[in-house]
Amino acid sequence: MLKQPVFKKVKFGQIRPWDKNPRNIKTEKLERLAKSIKEKGLFQTLTCWKEGSFYITGGGNMRWQAMKHILKWPDDREVWISLNFPENEKEKIELSLLDNMRFGQYVEQELAELTYPYIDEIELKEFDIDLKEPVNLKSIIESFGPDLGSEKEDEIPEIDDTPALTKYGDLYQLGRHRLLCGDATKEEDVKRLMRGRKADMVITSPPYFNQREYSIWKKYDDYLSDIRKAIRNIRKLAKETFACLWNIGTDIPNDIPADCSKIFRDEGFEFKGVIAWIKSGIGTSTLRSNHIITHYLYYPKFRWEPIYIFITRNYPHFEKEDVNYVNQPLGDIWEINQVYGSQQEKIGHIAIYPIELAERGIRSFSLKGSIIYEPFLGSGTTLVACERFNRICYGIEIEPKYCDVIIKRYSNFTGIPEEEIRATKESK
Ligand SMILES: C[S@@+](CC[C@H](N)C(=O)[O-])C[C@H]1O[C@@H](n2cnc3c(N)ncnc32)[C@H](O)[C@@H]1O
Repeated sequence: MLKQPVFKKVKFGQIRPWDKNPRNIKTEKLERLAKSIKEKGLFQTLTCWKEGSFYITGGGNMRWQAMKHILKWPDDREVWISLNFPENEKEKIELSLLDNMRFGQYVEQELAELTYPYIDEIELKEFDIDLKEPVNLKSIIESFGPDLGSEKEDEIPEIDDTPALTKYGDLYQLGRHRLLCGDATKEEDVKRLMRGRKADMVITSPPYFNQREYSIWKKYDDYLSDIRKAIRNIRKLAKETFACLWNIGTDIPNDIPADCSKIFRDEGFEFKGVIAWIKSGIGTSTLRSNHIITHYLYYPKFRWEPIYIFITRNYPHFEKEDVNYVNQPLGDIWEINQVYGSQQEKIGHIAIYPIELAERGIRSFSLKGSIIYEPFLGSGTTLVACERFNRICYGIEIEPKYCDVIIKRYSNFTGIPEEEIRATKESK
């Protein structure tokens, strides 16, 4: 239950907008809102909660934008807020919904995706959202949210047949980073990528045995043997001070995380802990619920995945400026929304991990300028995280089509034209 707010005056400069707010506003409406604030005053407080030294406006983002960008309120001007105490993401969303002002407009898809994970917990019928006319939140989720009946792990889309531009064996330079279309289990490929340089860190999510179309293994033992080869290669390129974050799920009846952990230790790494990635974006799995109801057998829904930490002798520092970010109260519980089907489709890969996960990983275990080796680059999430936080990514992806995705994604992100990246190609 939401705790009662307290009302207080704070300096405008201490308030920041909520980056997850699923609402936007047309310029003309923002101007009208600014005019109204100027002429009639701010008759409604901003609905805020505290994060670090800032007050985040879960409700009142449009008013904040009008005050900041049109009325140019100075940072030291005082403003009334209602200070709330949400204890989790669900309560933040509820606060934001309760403060539904008429000026902004919801981006329906984003609203559906934001609220979908909590459909069991938020009483959807209680919230009417003002689009052109009041619409019930439940009906928005039904039209825009992920398919309520599907279990993501079972979806195995085919890669389409159009030929990829990248060829197996191509090596590309993307700014300071490198991408090899190759095989992380092959020592010669890893050597070609690294050119004698060693890595400070690995962060990756390898294939989960047979869950996707890129899975090629007939037997689980064959899969483990390839995983061992990839881990052995990591050992060879690891600096003395090194950490590896290995995100892997189970594939019942195979306990892949436990088997990988054994291999890491066999290959000379030290186990340093496990982080639970709580997939806040994962919905209720109807298939599994039905199984429980029909068979009276407990069949737990997927709600989290482990991220194992392995190190060599020491593990790397993080930047001093990141101390508050790294030292969050959740510790080894990282609550991060999963990447939704619609976003995966947009990017062009079917098993993407969230960029926040890669960013949190590299900010917690490396310094600016560190070399991050990524043996299973997929759609390039780790590469983009490295670009954003000033690390250098050397990545391998076996599938030429996904290398095309990586190049496109990097080009979109940095503005470096694709042709410029393609021109750096070194074939085998
Ligand atoms: C779970 S996905 C990684 C997704 C990635 N974390 C992202 O956010 O896009 C695993 C990737 O490993 C690739 N892969 C599989 N076997 C490989 C190998 N031997 N060497 C390099 N990449 C491989 C697959 O094609 C797939 O794209």
